Amino acid sequence: MKSLAIIGSQWGDEGKGKITDLLSQKCDVVVRYQGGNNAGHTIIVKDRKIVLHLIPSGILHDHCVSIIGHGVVFDPEAFKVELDDVLSNNININADKLKISANCTVITTYNKILDAQREAKGPVKIGTTGKGIGPAYEDKISRKGIKLKDLSNLETLKTKLAANLIEKESLFKNLYKVDYPSVEEEATRLFELGKIAAPFICDTFSILDHAVRDNKNILFEGAQGVLLDIDYGSYPFVTSSSTSYGGIFTGAGMPTGKVDEVLGITKAYTTRVGEGPFPTELFTPVGEFIQTKGGEFGATTGRKRRCGWLDIPLLKYAVKSSSLTSIALTKVDILSGMDELKVCKSYMYEGKEINCAYPGIDLTKIEPIYTDLKPFDDDFKGEPSENLKAYIELIEKELEIPISIIAFGPERNEISFRKEFFKS
Ligand code: GDP
Ligand code: IMO
Ligand code: MG
Repeated sequence: MKSLAIIGSQWGDEGKGKITDLLSQKCDVVVRYQGGNNAGHTIIVKDRKIVLHLIPSGILHDHCVSIIGHGVVFDPEAFKVELDDVLSNNININADKLKISANCTVITTYNKILDAQREAKGPVKIGTTGKGIGPAYEDKISRKGIKLKDLSNLETLKTKLAANLIEKESLFKNLYKVDYPSVEEEATRLFELGKIAAPFICDTFSILDHAVRDNKNILFEGAQGVLLDIDYGSYPFVTSSSTSYGGIFTGAGMPTGKVDEVLGITKAYTTRVGEGPFPTELFTPVGEFIQTKGGEFGATTGRKRRCGWLDIPLLKYAVKSSSLTSIALTKVDILSGMDELKVCKSYMYEGKEINCAYPGIDLTKIEPIYTDLKPFDDDFKGEPSENLKAYIELIEKELEIPISIIAFGPERNEISFRKEFFKS
């Protein structure tokens, strides 16, 4: 195997950062291809906690080239903060290790204002991260986007920002009645911030193209999760990028390459931050217990994550829509020692039992059907108990793909590989 995709199979925060960090040890290249600093990928190394938002989780390894592909929306201010944070953690970053596509769409202050105003005053609250992600993707798709390469020329930047502002100005003044920076102010800000990103900006397409041709080990680090995908997800309560497998081919800049395996990162239960349907959500003390024990707070916004039992119909959909070839089951330790253990194997929907959350199903109108399992109480020091084995086997049987990794703690060594990735 030469290329592997890491895809969140639920609503994000499944533990992608930890798995990417570990698998990067055997990789030459790690690529982020969608999303932006709405992501929060946590890596725990001994007593240090590093949360990466924009920079790929491969950055912790000196031999790895980390690429931010053109499908990512890039906030130069957030990048500055993250760069400082990573450097202050004694992680080496230089232009050989980090490559950022000149064609990334820039998140402007205008995008962030729009995101905040819509969330505060719009008819539908999505519960976004407030990072300007949706409006930046709108700019891109409507061909008004500011590209990272535009930040190097102040005059061109002013012209593009002026064109970009025309319609938004009307919204800021008339609809939202909110202050916003002038083109002059915003251009100067972005121009200055652009200097910080400049050493890393390059043609990442060619770097990836060479890496594929040179048979390098490549890892694609997805952000968010399948159910947050703009097309496959629980629309409109989604993010604005292609978070599933298909996003790689447009967002990384690898149109013809093939990805050998697709690893679906799956939390042993389900969580969600923000608004939107959540069939197995627990509103009971059990949900609170999982939330507290699991430390389920957003790595980007600090919001409490909603918690619920594992949802097999959603995962079946993720397997199909992202061509998952195996599962990394994370946070199994959080379920250890529970008094009860349930899994939702199917839904009752419009009088029929269905076992896959196919598109078109109104997730607010389904009734989850639960199977009770015997709780497990493993300390993960030896072989899994019979009850834990039963949990794992049930998931494998239902999803019809193997569980290749089991994670049972946030630390790097709290993991069991049931398969070797990137054989050397
Ligand atoms: P990501 O966005 O998918 O990278 O996930 P987040 O970093 O947002 O959230 C996952 C959280 O769970 C982080 O705090 C991780 O340190 C932690 N974590 C990852 N795997 C495990 C695990 O197996 N057990 C426990 N207890 N924590 C884990
Ligand atoms: P990682 O990569 C969990 C959610 C937000 C909101 C919706 C839209 O850490 O798994 P946006 O700001 O993207 O327009 O918000 O998507 N969301 C995430 N939820 N993990 C993430 O990233 C998320 N990124 C966005 O909470 O519901
Ligand atoms: Mg996260």
